[in-house]
Amino acid sequence: MAQKRIFSGIKPTGRLHLGNYIGAIKQWVAMQNEGECFFCIVDLHAITVPQEPKILKEKIRELAALYLACGIDPEKSVIFVQSHNLDHPALAWILDCVASMGQLGRMTQYKSKSEELKGKVSVGLFNYPVLMAADILLYQTDLVPVGEDQIQHVELTRDLAERFNHRFGQIFKIPEHRIFKIGARVMSLQHPEKKMSKSDDDPNGTIDLLDQPDEIRRKIKVAVTDSGREILFREDKPAISNLLTIYSHLSGKSVEELEKKYQGKGYREFKDDLAEVVVEFLRPIQQRYTQIRQEKKYLDQVLATGLKKAQAISRRTMNQVYQAVGLG
Ligand code: AMP
Ligand code: TRP
Repeated sequence: MAQKRIFSGIKPTGRLHLGNYIGAIKQWVAMQNEGECFFCIVDLHAITVPQEPKILKEKIRELAALYLACGIDPEKSVIFVQSHNLDHPALAWILDCVASMGQLGRMTQYKSKSEELKGKVSVGLFNYPVLMAADILLYQTDLVPVGEDQIQHVELTRDLAERFNHRFGQIFKIPEHRIFKIGARVMSLQHPEKKMSKSDDDPNGTIDLLDQPDEIRRKIKVAVTDSGREILFREDKPAISNLLTIYSHLSGKSVEELEKKYQGKGYREFKDDLAEVVVEFLRPIQQRYTQIRQEKKYLDQVLATGLKKAQAISRRTMNQVYQAVGLG
């Protein structure tokens, strides 16, 4: 039986946090044994909003090193930088000519970002989901492991693939998203009604993968809680439910087990334990990260090998697309 293809990516902007880890990377690590994985550093997506060039360059390497430190194994998975493979923007252009303005205007991420940017919206930001569709379709992807906020973009990808296939012949595989039932939307520690986000102005809302132990302990101490005292995963307890989600994902214990463990116990004890779980979970990741950053050549080599493997597949798709559309 043919192996499943798996594709996903993260933008090299801001600081990677527990939402990114739980929503995306944790799934990726597990899926490495399930199929042929491609994990991309999507720098072309990063520039849809202004970035400082020197910082962006640094962030690309930081993110690549974090992929490895979190357990993405370059022997099993293909890791590469999106802008190194020009098939991505090339296919995005062709898909731009299939996508409609109306459907792109309905994307919720676009709507909320363009509101934030008040008039300073680039054409790239509008086209963002088409480039994401190109990323996915170039590799004839079966599964796209992401957090909940990206489901709509994967749906658009399916729609564009179907539309293209209908017009030009069966070229693209139709992909599906994959999310965790619990943890697809990790919430801010300060505002449990908002998702944990790289662009949060309040640094206490996120726990970043490279936060130092004392910083982590402090952020969990000041994390908001709900009224009442019980430690239960319930709709009317969004803050505690979110902390339980994080605890469960990082400890491997189920939410039910944790509810039982903390029956009759207070928030203080729960938070102290959670802080240690997070600190101990991140410790080896941070150690590996520091080590990888010291071996500059190793990272270059991983990205160069990844690029070759990625291009071998994407070239094949592009040849078919050019033929089908009648280009060149
Ligand atoms: P981004 O930070 O937008 O580049 O997101 C990278 C990946 O992390 C995507 O798959 C997102 O869906 C996922 N992600 C981002 N924030 C969260 C969150 N708060 N909870 C769960 N997944 C998230
Ligand atoms: N849009 C995704 C995000 O903001 C990142 C992304 C770009 C992506 N291309 C992708 C995710 C392809 C999955 C597959 O998180």
